[in-house]
Amino acid sequence: MMSLLNTSSLPTIPKFPYIHSHTKSPFLAALFPQNSYPSFQSSNLSHQRSKIKQSPITIITSSMASTTQTDKITEKPFSVLFVCLGNICRSPAAEGVFTDLVKKRNLSSKFVIDSAGTINYHEGGPADSRMRAASKRRGIEIKSISRPIRPSDFREFDLILAMDKQNKEDILAALERWSLKETLPADAYKKVKLMCSYCKKHDATEVPDPYYGGPQGFEQVLDLLEDACESLLETILTENNGISNS
Ligand code: 4NP
Repeated sequence: MMSLLNTSSLPTIPKFPYIHSHTKSPFLAALFPQNSYPSFQSSNLSHQRSKIKQSPITIITSSMASTTQTDKITEKPFSVLFVCLGNICRSPAAEGVFTDLVKKRNLSSKFVIDSAGTINYHEGGPADSRMRAASKRRGIEIKSISRPIRPSDFREFDLILAMDKQNKEDILAALERWSLKETLPADAYKKVKLMCSYCKKHDATEVPDPYYGGPQGFEQVLDLLEDACESLLETILTENNGISNS
């Protein structure tokens, strides 16, 4: 009899040929000298911030279960995670802008939206006051509390949007490292995309870090995010035509 624990059937660990150790941020290397990114086990906020677990689901009742096999009886919200370095400026703003767009389209129940950072330096703190003020002037409220990205994000989110190229590299490096310790989806790296790849009105390829700059930097971040979020929502709706029709 074949063993139920046949390890040869387990998914293989994905290879990331495009990740080079020399591309690691010196800033992150200084913060995490043992090559130890913040782990979700160390995050005391992981339970508070686990929005996925509270996300709306359709309960399958016995009468529904008797419908034909081809009927779509569960409806999982589409989930989007925005990621930057500190999770206090760009990704909280992206979360706020996208949440506002989704709300205006009456689609809140169809989405789970969150943000995270590649470092845990600001964990537990609110978004930067300059980012919150700039967003508020455009009618966007930022409520998020900073938290680092964690392994379960790669299981739970459909799309992970990096604000700049270094963020993307750091996210993929964390995925590679965490995949050695636990089972994560083999194709999770495909979920990681650059935010500006959705921009239609701007040529920028990255959302620049505004932290050490002046007020204009925060306005530029919002201009890029508004452009990217509009096209991101249209893309998701087009590629998942059940979202707006049900
Ligand atoms: P964010 O901006 O990545 O857009 O949240 C930053 C926030 C904090 C730091 C750098 C960038 N920091 O060096 O602490």
